[in-house]
Amino acid sequence: DWTPASFIESTVRELKEELGDDKVILALSGGVDSSVTAVLLNRAIGKNLTCVFVDHGLLRKNEFETVLDDYEHLGLNVIGVDAKQHFYKELEGVTDPEEKRKIIGKGFIDVFEREAHKLKDIKWLAQGTIYPDIIESLSITGVTIKSHHNVGGLPEKMNLKLCEPLKLLFKDEVRKIGLELGMRPGLIHRHPFPGPGLGIRILGAITPEKVRIAQEADDIFISGLREYGLYDKVWQAGAILLPVQSVGVMGDERTYENTIALRSVTSTDAMTADWSRLPYEFLAKVSNEIINKVQGVNRVVLDISSKPPATIEWE
Ligand code: XMP
Repeated sequence: DWTPASFIESTVRELKEELGDDKVILALSGGVDSSVTAVLLNRAIGKNLTCVFVDHGLLRKNEFETVLDDYEHLGLNVIGVDAKQHFYKELEGVTDPEEKRKIIGKGFIDVFEREAHKLKDIKWLAQGTIYPDIIESLSITGVTIKSHHNVGGLPEKMNLKLCEPLKLLFKDEVRKIGLELGMRPGLIHRHPFPGPGLGIRILGAITPEKVRIAQEADDIFISGLREYGLYDKVWQAGAILLPVQSVGVMGDERTYENTIALRSVTSTDAMTADWSRLPYEFLAKVSNEIINKVQGVNRVVLDISSKPPATIEWE
C-alpha cells in the first residue's frame, strides 16, 4: 500500500542506489514540488546535493529572501543567485506568452549551467516535476497547450542526467510527503506558483515597473486571504496585471491607469479548476486596498472562469 512513509523509504533507497556518490544540482523554485524534492534528495545523498535558487525578478514580493531563509533552516546546501537584470533584459519588449516561457526557461538553464560549471563533477540535474506537469505538456491532439518550462527543453549540451523523483505524483501526495519529511506546514501548504512566475501574470511586455505593480497587488491579495482565513481554502490565487488602461478619478484628477484581475481557484490537481466563491466583503477590502495603495492601478476586476475552458494562468 502507498503511504507517504513507504514512498519516502523506497525513493530514498532508490536514489541512493541510482546516484551513488554522484553530485546533483537541484533547481529550486520556492514551490512545494522542488522543495520536497530537495529535502528528499538531501535525505538520500546529503552534501552531494547542491541547490540553486534563482531570483528571475518575477517572484512574489519578498519571496526570494523569505524562501532562501527557509531553505537554510532546512539544512539544505543552497546558493541564491540574483539574475533579475539578466531576465529583464532578455524579456524586454516580448509579448507572446510562449516566447516569454521559452526565454524564462532558457534563462534558467543558462544560470544553472553557469552554477553547475562553477561546482565540480556535477552529474545530475534534479527537478520537482510532478505528474500533471508531464500530462499538460503532452497532448492527445499533438498540440501543446502550454509549455511548462520545467519539462523538456533541456539542451543536450548541459550534459546532465535528469532526476525527477516526484514525477508520478499529484500535488496532494507531494504535500503529504513533505509533512512526513518534517517540513514546516507553512512551506508545504504554500499555493502553487508557476515557474515563469509573474512573467505569465503580467500580460504583454514585462518591465520592472510592471513587476512592482504586480508584486504589490499580489501581496495585498495573498495577505488578505491569510488574514481572512481563506488562504488554505483556495488552491491558488494571484493578481494578474492586464495590458488594459482605463479611465478613473482620484480626487479631482482624471486617471488613466492599469487594471488588476484577481484570480483565485479551487482545485484538487490543477487539471480542472473552478473560480473561488470569495466573500464580497473580502473582495471589497482587497479591491479598495489595491486601488488605494498600488500606484498605477485604478481598477480591479474578478476572474470568474473555470478550467476548462479557461486555464488557471492567463498566459
Ligand atoms: P494552467 O494555467 O495551465 O496551470 O491551468 C496549471 C497549473 O500549472 C501551473 N503552471 C506552471 N507551473 N511552469 C510551472 O512550473 C509553468 O510554466 C506553468 N504554467 C502554469 C499553474 O500555476 C497551475 O498551478
